[in-house]
Amino acid sequence: MKYKRILLKLSGESLMGSKQFGIDNDRINSYAKQIKEIQNIGHEVAIVIGGGNIFRGVQAEEGGMDRTHGDYMGMLATMINAMALQSALESNGVKTRLQSAIEMKAIAEPFIRRKAVRHLEKGRVVIFGAGTGNPFFTTDSAASLRAIEINADVILKGTRVDGIYTADPEKDKNATKYETITFDEVYKKGLNVMDLTAFTLCKENNLPIIVFNMDTPGNLEKVLSGKTIGTLVRN
Ligand code: GTP
Repeated sequence: MKYKRILLKLSGESLMGSKQFGIDNDRINSYAKQIKEIQNIGHEVAIVIGGGNIFRGVQAEEGGMDRTHGDYMGMLATMINAMALQSALESNGVKTRLQSAIEMKAIAEPFIRRKAVRHLEKGRVVIFGAGTGNPFFTTDSAASLRAIEINADVILKGTRVDGIYTADPEKDKNATKYETITFDEVYKKGLNVMDLTAFTLCKENNLPIIVFNMDTPGNLEKVLSGKTIGTLVRN
């Protein structure tokens, strides 16, 4: 198995499905089913989820709120999504553990790296909530950091687009999708894969990223079975 231990990054905004706000039950269930599928094959799955469907720190700043304060609110938003995903997974019969970067003992274990790894080895899906626990970092950075900490083989970034394009495919009809691209090319071409902090962490630690469309059921399994969907970023 090429990628045994994976870190799956899910976007909070994708959880909205067709709704304007919050969590779409069909969407979160579809995610849970896809995760169950790959876990049954024997992949060890850790997950970081964003919070943009509920709250965004950056927007709060635009409205006059202190950035740090807004970022902490965003971290709480990721916990709401993490709990919803935990529940969706468990109703699909998947064993899970939720760990939070900010201590909230009544609802989640604290983040303890060695415990997280043990959970993975025992076949539990581990969800990491509350980002990195620090303001000024995105959940993409949390995904990179946790992936490196748990020695994941790959980050799978599930998004609404099916990979990385030469230009914005919605604006440029001639845009083509990369099957593979190096970290250096992404820098050089100024392509937007993750924020630079998150991206650089992956590059420096030689952790490949696969960007793919998670909203098409079955895609997660296809990516891991080596089908050429999405875009692979590597050194
Ligand atoms: P093992 O060490 O493999 O037995 O792992 P385990 O997670 O089954 O053991 P543990 O006894 O630590 O946890 C039992 C349950 O309690 C699990 O559902 C954990 O997620 C949960 N749990 C453990 N620590 C905490 C905590 O600090 N807060 C909360 N809310 N739940 C916790």
